[in-house]
Amino acid sequence: MGSSTFLLFSYTVLLSLATLTLSDDVYFEHNCNEIRGNYTANSTYQANLNSIVSQFSSLTEFNYGFFNLSAGVSPDNANVIALCRGDLNQSQCNSCLNYTATELERFCPSNKEATAWSELCLVRYANRDMYGMLENDPRTCAYNPANASNPEQFNQALSELLNDLSSKAADGGPLRKYAAGNATAGNLQTVYATVQCTPDLDEGNCTTCLTFAMNELRNCCYGRMGCRVLRPNCVLRFESNPFYNQIAVPLPSPPPPPSPSTSSFPTSIGEQH
Ligand SMILES: *[C@@H]1O[C@H](CO)[C@@H](O)[C@H](O)[C@H]1NC(C)=O
Ligand SMILES: *[C@@H]1O[C@H](CO)[C@@H](O)[C@H](O)[C@H]1NC(C)=O
Ligand SMILES: *[C@@H]1O[C@H](CO)[C@@H](O)[C@H](O)[C@H]1NC(C)=O
Ligand SMILES: *[C@@H]1O[C@H](CO)[C@@H](O)[C@H](O)[C@H]1NC(C)=O
Ligand SMILES: *[C@@H]1O[C@H](CO)[C@@H](O)[C@H](O)[C@H]1NC(C)=O
Ligand SMILES: *[C@@H]1O[C@H](CO)[C@@H](O)[C@H](O)[C@H]1NC(C)=O
Ligand SMILES: *[C@@H]1O[C@H](CO)[C@@H](O)[C@H](O)[C@H]1NC(C)=O
Ligand SMILES: *[C@@H]1O[C@H](CO)[C@@H](O)[C@H](O)[C@H]1NC(C)=O
Repeated sequence: MGSSTFLLFSYTVLLSLATLTLSDDVYFEHNCNEIRGNYTANSTYQANLNSIVSQFSSLTEFNYGFFNLSAGVSPDNANVIALCRGDLNQSQCNSCLNYTATELERFCPSNKEATAWSELCLVRYANRDMYGMLENDPRTCAYNPANASNPEQFNQALSELLNDLSSKAADGGPLRKYAAGNATAGNLQTVYATVQCTPDLDEGNCTTCLTFAMNELRNCCYGRMGCRVLRPNCVLRFESNPFYNQIAVPLPSPPPPPSPSTSSFPTSIGEQH
């Protein structure tokens, strides 16, 4: 197992404070990579990294909340992958990325490679290419210490919900791989969940990532009322309260399926749902 299993205590109390401003995100978790190199203050690597981080609060492209950015040239190039939860709009996404990246630099002031998850987004940076690669570490799991009163029914409903959401997210296409939904455990308890992969993963690697996350959830969160499994390429969360927005920014319609008949001019490109 990886070195990174942190538990977030007093989660129940903190849940009720979830409307605090981002500057106090109690869900923030981070990992500083101690192996893949260090940088010094005022180095070229730091300048390259800062040039990306300083853009986050004012990004004008939305990209459905996913960014693969880089600055500088080898050996001092900084690469950043950033992902906002699939129900965020651009201003929410920008402020989460700014906060999370700024905090990550503060917690890991000399590590070339580092990863952070806050409630609403994920930020990774490194001196190497990370795009499209499925990785196992760092990872962590944070749970709500309250237990379900009917754990077997609760977990049955949760497990079906997560399987369903995982296949929807993996099938989501190259812009966004996100799904959210709810299920009811024996009329007693509703469970709400979100799952998401960075959309640079292909469908198979997204499915693999979420399968690992579901297995981890069984180990760290069985019977709990809420849990977040955090991985470099995918995240999963469930709670007993509706914690996400029902409506996400719609994706453009998929292109019409290729027709074997004679080609024709395209119609209605980019129509929104
Ligand atoms: C980076 O610095 C940390 C101490 O801050 C040290 O433990 C680690 O060995 C260093 N890593 C490298 C690759 O030099
Ligand atoms: C880095 O630059 C700042 C501002 O120019 C300066 O105050 C600081 O002493 C420098 N730090 C190092 C380690 O050179
Ligand atoms: C992602 O960023 C890396 C640099 O980190 C770059 O080499 C790669 O071309 C980018 N991929 C895409 C699809 O933008
Ligand atoms: C983004 O969402 C927040 C919270 O729902 C809302 O207050 C804000 O007006 C939205 N911003 C835009 C530009 O839609
Ligand atoms: C970016 O986040 C940092 C850390 O929370 C904060 O101090 C700073 O004001 C934010 N910048 C903007 C432009 O919002
Ligand atoms: C899936 O992830 C592996 C491991 O990072 C990578 O080598 C492979 O290229 C990925 N698959 C695709 C189709 O990108
Ligand atoms: C929840 O269940 C676990 C394991 O059964 C137990 O250790 C823990 O104390 C329980 N938590 C609460 C808040 O009852
Ligand atoms: C639960 O999910 C159903 C769709 O499966 C949806 O119609 C309903 O609005 C959701 N309820 C809540 C409270 O989110």
